Amino acid sequence: MSDGRALAREFLEQQRLLGGDPVILSDSRTVGLSDGDGALPSERPTVRSSDAARSDGPTVRPTDPLPPSGISYDPPGGDLFSADPLHQAASLDALAALVATCTKCRLCEGRRHTVPGEGPRDARLVVVGEGPGRVEDQTGRPFVGPAGELLTKILAAIDLRRDHVFICNVVKCRPPENRVPQYDEIAACVPYLFHQIDVLKPQVILAMGGTAAQTLLNTKQSLGTLRNQIHRFRGIPVIVTYHPAALLRNPHWKKPTWDDVRIARRLLA
Ligand code: URA
Ligand code: SF4
Repeated sequence: MSDGRALAREFLEQQRLLGGDPVILSDSRTVGLSDGDGALPSERPTVRSSDAARSDGPTVRPTDPLPPSGISYDPPGGDLFSADPLHQAASLDALAALVATCTKCRLCEGRRHTVPGEGPRDARLVVVGEGPGRVEDQTGRPFVGPAGELLTKILAAIDLRRDHVFICNVVKCRPPENRVPQYDEIAACVPYLFHQIDVLKPQVILAMGGTAAQTLLNTKQSLGTLRNQIHRFRGIPVIVTYHPAALLRNPHWKKPTWDDVRIARRLLA
């Protein structure tokens, strides 16, 4: 198989995984991937698309209107002259060093490693999850367990390499039994996240799951309500979508997730 075909095959497999729209080949065959039977393009039966508007190819429709504006949250920043070491941590590494010895909440008690987050200083996209899981706690790296593998595929499907994205969580230590972080734990940890975002100044933030969305937007609204709007955190667009761990449990949410991440992609210059 040529490189081109291998790439196309991989791309279509990613689309299928995400429940993406059908892709129409130039000979009008649909290699429809929305209901994912696992067959690859050349193995699938020929289906004619009834939707002429789609017949010229790719699934991305840059002319679709963007969703409406949503919540704008602008928490006060750190005082530049404050003695708090967090506000003097100019770099992501300095921040990670502070996290490594942090005992500001009870989650420090059960952790093996802190998981501050990782990615390049010039990342245009910041992905925010909830908190480290088991594998993350063992390795000190975000999103490396099963949910992380799915995240890597989601990013690849919108043409983003994982190592070009900054990936982190609301809380930097693993909650016991992967329970949802409690309100006071989030309150104790969130200055780290806000500071990371201030240092990175990304073009877009992707909030994955309710905890990330509600924390970044300071709201109790449900994930379903928050999806499909362009919110802002300190002026930076925030797109809300399902958490990859939830997608592993409920594949019905893959299609909406694919729609959400495409919006995030369109907002990246
Ligand atoms: N789930 C999260 O929210 N974050 C991780 O890093 C891994 C799983
Ligand atoms: Fe500190 Fe955050 Fe870990 Fe709590 S979860 S101990 S606030 S780094």
